[in-house]
Formats: sequence, structure tokens, C-alpha cells
Amino acid sequence: MVKICCIGAGYVGGPTMAVIALKCPAIEVAVVDISVARINAWNSDQLPIYEPGLDDVVKQCRGKNLFFSTDVEKHVFEADIVFVSVNTPTKTRGLGAGKAADLTYWESAARMIADVSKSDKIVVEKSTVPVKTAEAIEKILTHNSKGINYQILSNPEFLAEGTAIEDLFKPDRVLIGGRETPEGLKAVQTLKDVYAQWVPEDRILTTNLWSAELSKLAANAFLAQRISSVNAMSALCEATGADVTQVSYAVGKDSRIGPKFLNSSVGFGGSCFQKDILNLVYICECNGLPEVAEYWKQVIKINDYQKSRFVNRIVSSMFNTVANKKMAILGFAFKKDTGDTRETPAIDVCLGLLGDKAQLSIYDPQVTEEQIQRDLSMNKFDWDHPLHLQPMSPTTVKKVSVVWSAYEATKDAHAVCILTEWDEFKTLDFQKIYDNMQKPAFVFDGRNVVDVQKLRDIGFVVYSIGKQLDPWIKDLPAVA
Ligand code: UDX
Ligand code: UDX
Ligand code: ADP
Repeated sequence: MVKICCIGAGYVGGPTMAVIALKCPAIEVAVVDISVARINAWNSDQLPIYEPGLDDVVKQCRGKNLFFSTDVEKHVFEADIVFVSVNTPTKTRGLGAGKAADLTYWESAARMIADVSKSDKIVVEKSTVPVKTAEAIEKILTHNSKGINYQILSNPEFLAEGTAIEDLFKPDRVLIGGRETPEGLKAVQTLKDVYAQWVPEDRILTTNLWSAELSKLAANAFLAQRISSVNAMSALCEATGADVTQVSYAVGKDSRIGPKFLNSSVGFGGSCFQKDILNLVYICECNGLPEVAEYWKQVIKINDYQKSRFVNRIVSSMFNTVANKKMAILGFAFKKDTGDTRETPAIDVCLGLLGDKAQLSIYDPQVTEEQIQRDLSMNKFDWDHPLHLQPMSPTTVKKVSVVWSAYEATKDAHAVCILTEWDEFKTLDFQKIYDNMQKPAFVFDGRNVVDVQKLRDIGFVVYSIGKQLDPWIKDLPAVA
């Protein structure tokens, strides 16, 4: 029986390994983590991450050929294939701070593998890492090898949160990069055989190590760039009276462009896009390509611009002050169907409003109060951000309450700000909400989920990203 061990039981490692276990009953899969709380949660009925369909997959395999454990060393020792799926945040200090990936967790995992291994192993990079990390890892392993043969593969994961299980069941492609030596090719084949249990062969692409590593960064950069492109258009639409939804529909009908990932929003979030682009920028700078670095930086700058533009719209529409006004924040997760708040635009929007002394009542169906308070109190690391947002001080904490329904959040509020596109926000009873709000009642839709005309008919002043401006807002001086 082939044994797989995955180091890191996070958003990537957990679901990916659960699906491998489900699709390959002949393989024993152990997912290990240093966090006891995380492993306990994986072994309980309350999994540590919310992902549609995940519970089902885990229930089917756990205890049979899928195990979650904190005994990292034992499982690495026994494994034939070791996936490394630890976190790789952006460095916050030292060389490359603000841009380069922090490989501390990766390096310590590699050293541990070298320490405990007594047999040949295939080591697979699963976390997104800078190009040439595999080479560095290879060096750590071979310099500590004690005669053991290690083959390093890069097998980046393309799943998106909220659709992880679907993406894993039917991936657009699986990418496996390896050394072009006989041993390297053999290792690639071994991993290919695992995926071939359920993924059609023509969707399993094999490349050299560097191409695989770079493809992952490039794919995320291209996706983020599409969003910044459409968000840049949204500002122009508002200024000219065009409707961004109509524009992106028309643009997406060009088969060379395609319809997906063209939804204008308050900004992209999530653990990958900004981190990977910053990483790409750093790699370009290190390779003497400042023009290329500048090009990609602009994607993040537009994203920051979009978030501050949204806050400015809110404040300027509400007589230039939101001080002590109750503002309902609907949605805090970085997108729907996840409880993840990493890099969510909601953090910047909320801090922007708090900076103007607003009172926030926040509702998200999947994010806990504890998480929201933590996110808003955290000192966010600045790369070279135009947003100068202060985290909440102990006195501002009192200005934030977290509630468990949209109706409670909006009661007596002056404005509703929609920051995540949860389906349930589309079917809210806006007449009831309007009746219970202060007047004039405002809706600021950062995700284009509401029916603008219907809400205007009820009496709301409505701002929806990239849509024709409400006469109320149009008559105000232009926002920067
Ligand atoms: C373009 C648009 O495609 C068309 O829809 C519009 O109506 C007019 O402008 P055109 O300029 O005729 O058409 O040619 P196109 O095939 O788009 O190529 C434009 C340039 O891009 C060419 O120099 C081409 O060589 C280059 N190109 C195109 C690339 O460098 N790489 C590509 O992948 C595609
Ligand atoms: C992304 C990539 O899609 C995935 O392939 C990679 O493995 C990890 O990073 P994820 O961050 O989970 O996945 O979510 P994604 O669906 O890509 O959304 C990222 C952000 O972009 C979200 O904040 C989302 O709301 C925003 N977005 C997405 C838009 O604003 N408009 C769109 O059209 C699409
Ligand atoms: P991702 O979104 O890439 O999956 P997460 O942060 O969700 O990232 O998960 C990474 C996991 O890796 C965390 O649960 C963390 O505890 C774990 N981890 C980090 N370093 C190690 C290590 N050396 N050994 C085992 N687990 C580790």
C-alpha cells in the first residue's frame, strides 16, 4: 500500500488529502499538523474549515484510509510521498519584508523530513512558494540525506475556497513539475498515477520544476488582474454613466476573453492573490526586471484604490460624516461560502469607517465574533499601501458589535454595506429593513447583489459598484 503523508492540515492540505483518500481507497493518507486544536477539530464533527461537501468526504474515509494526527514524525517516517502544505505568509521583517514569502515553516518542515526519514521519499510542494524553492528544499534534504534519495516535485493546488471539493473532483488541470532525470520522471509518474485514479490523463500536465512553480503564481496573478481590470472599469462606468455589469458581459462574450472572473467588487481578498503577486513582484525585482514588477504591482494598487474608493463613497454620500452613525456591515468573509477572512476587503472597509468614527454592526453567516475582533485589532503589515489604516484601539472595540442576523444588524442603522455576496443577502426583505432604519436610508452594495431599482423604489439611496449613480450621489463633488 502506498502511504501518503501531508504536513499541514489547513485549507489546502485538509480538503486535498480527503479527496485523494476518497478517490484512492488503496492509498493510506495521513494529514499531520503541529496544531493540536486543528487536528482535534479534523477528528471531530466540527471540522476546522467550512467547505461545502467536505464533511461528507471526510466522513466517508476518516478512520479507514484517512487519518489526522499530530504525530508528524511517525507519519513522515512511514510515508512514500510527503506533501508539504504549510503556510507561507509574506515576510513582515528583514530582507524582502512586505513582498517575499516567509519560508520559515517550509524550511522547518524540510529539516524535519531530513531528520526522521530512513527510506527514499518523494517530497511534494503543495503550498504556493516562490520559484526555485524546490531547489532550496532539495539542498536541505540532500545535504542532510544520510544516503536517502529524495525526489522533489512541485504540484501546486488550484482549488478555490468555497468550491474546493468540486474543484478537486473535477480540476481544470493538475500540474506536476519535476526534475528531467530518470529518477525525477519516475517520481512524476508515481504522483501522476495517484491523480489518474479520477482525473482524465489529458488534464494532468507535467513540466519542469520551475515552470510548475511559476505557473501557480502566474495563474493567480492573471486572475487578480482580471478583477483589477474590471474594477478599474467600474470607476470609469460610474463617472460616465455606463453599467459595469453590461460592460463586463459584453467583454466576456468575446471567446478570447471569456465570461468568468469579471465581476466587479469592493476588491479581491483571500490568502493567495495579494501574497502571490507580492511574491511575483519580489522575484521580478530580484531578477532585475523592475518594469515587470511595476506592472504587477499595479494590480494590487487598483485593489487598494477600489477599497478606499468604496469607503469614500459611503462617507461623502452621508453628509461627509459617519461619526456615531450605526452602519450595518453585511458579510465579512472574503467571498461567499467560506468562513475565511484572510485579506478580506471587509477589514479595510471596516477600518476605514471606524477611522471616521462610525459604529459598526456586523453580520456574516460563517464568521465568528472572535475572528472579526481579531481581524480588526491586528496590526496589518504595510507593503507600500496607500491605505493608512490603524487597527482598532481598545476604545474603538466598543464601536463594533457582531450580531447573528441581517435584520438585527440593520435595525436603526443609517446605512447597509454589503461586503460579501452571500446568497441570503439577495432575498432579504428590504422593505422591512427600510422600515426599521434611520432616514435617509442608504445601501452601499460592494458586490452587486441587490436589485438597485427595486431598492430605489422602496426609498433607499443606493450605491452599487460600477452602476449608474443615484442622483443623490451624482450631485456630490467627485470622490478621489
Ligand atoms: C484587434 C481585435 O482582435 C479585434 O477584435 C478588433 O476589432 C481590432 O483589433 P487586430 O488588430 O486585427 O484585431 O488583430 P489581433 O489578432 O487582435 O492582434 C493584434 C496584435 O496582437 C497583433 O500584433 C498580434 O500579433 C498580437 N498578439 C495577439 C500577440 O502578440 N499575442 C497574442 O496572443 C495575440
Ligand atoms: C484563488 C484562486 O482562484 C485559486 O485557483 C487558488 O488556488 C487560490 O486563490 P480563492 O482565493 O479561494 O482562490 O478564491 P477566488 O474565487 O479566486 O476569489 C478571490 C477573491 O476575488 C475573492 O475576494 C472574490 O470575491 C474576488 N472576486 C472573484 C471578485 O471580486 N470578482 C470576481 O469576478 C471573482
Ligand atoms: P493553506 O491555506 O495554505 O492551507 P493554512 O494556514 O490553512 O494554509 O494551513 C497551514 C497549516 O500548516 C497550519 O495548520 C499550520 O499549523 C501547519 N504547519 C505549519 N508548519 C508546520 C510544521 N512544521 N509541521 C506541521 N504542520 C505545520
